Amino acid sequence: MYEKPLSFPFMKSNNVLLLSQLCGNLCMLKVLNSIKSIRREVISYHRKNLKIGFVPTMGALHKGHLKLVEESVNETDITIVSIFVNPTQFNDSNDLKNYPRDILKDKILLKESGCHILFNPSPEEIYPNKPETQISFGKLEKEMEGKYREGHFNGVALVVSKLLNIVQPDIAYFGQKDWQQYIIIKRLSEDLNFNSKIKFVPTVRETNGLAMSSRNQRLTSDLKEKSAVIYDSLKKAKKLLRESNDVKLVKEFIETIFADENQLSLEYFEVIEAYNLDRFEDPREVETIVLAIAVYADEVRLIDNVLLELN
Ligand code: PAJ
Repeated sequence: MYEKPLSFPFMKSNNVLLLSQLCGNLCMLKVLNSIKSIRREVISYHRKNLKIGFVPTMGALHKGHLKLVEESVNETDITIVSIFVNPTQFNDSNDLKNYPRDILKDKILLKESGCHILFNPSPEEIYPNKPETQISFGKLEKEMEGKYREGHFNGVALVVSKLLNIVQPDIAYFGQKDWQQYIIIKRLSEDLNFNSKIKFVPTVRETNGLAMSSRNQRLTSDLKEKSAVIYDSLKKAKKLLRESNDVKLVKEFIETIFADENQLSLEYFEVIEAYNLDRFEDPREVETIVLAIAVYADEVRLIDNVLLELN
């Protein structure tokens, strides 16, 4: 196991002991910025046969990210989190510019979460040259996010490939909230024989059901409340699909709900096979279905999904 810093034997009172335990947790986070330094660290863990868990993120951390970290801390010996706002996956430069950043708060949350290493490289470290490599995913990027965010998954795949090659984790953790991203990374890893298991962790939600997202910070509290309709409508759509087996009916149901909302506009709602992202005629022929949605809450783009296991 990873060695915790020594506690101080001369600290006898309960309070001071508590403080030293807290410090034991808080002192463990190591922050590395260069590829060379993280590679060196990873080699030393592999030599000691330690199992490495990895959570790639773009920062502005919330409880959704921290659930992935928690899963990694529980299942592996060393947890590495990366924070890197990846320019190649943004097709809108304003979205990149407005992406929330709070590295000081993130470090505190990571220290408290039991994460061991934060990898926080600069854009120049990750992209010393403009990358020429293009990765495409055929039918996997034809629907949902791929259809509306051109080039997005190429950018995601580039950075995740780089990060997995640098960190060489045993397990890499992704959130269900970005279902298509999880499916694409899983396929990338299988197709290119990456030596990491790709796992997903269920979506963590606000108390009103809204999926946690770094972008929620940009919502007014009123709009946050209104946005609860996104998950609410997904749950109703799932029930309706189970009862009716009628995809068209379910799509009309969702369109009607959002037609009545003035601050929320529906970008897409898709009902497709969850693992190959194929469309289908009859839900009874499918094992697992994903019902996925993207909605603009004023300017803020929100996505969510639910899974329906049928067989
Ligand atoms: P980011 O949006 O920061 O998300 C990092 C990870 O946290 C992703 O796997 C995402 O699915 C997961 N996540 C976000 N919100 C969640 C929630 N409410 N519940 C559970 N998991 C949640 O996704 C990215 O960054 C980037 O595309 C990245 C993979 C880091 C590549 O740049």
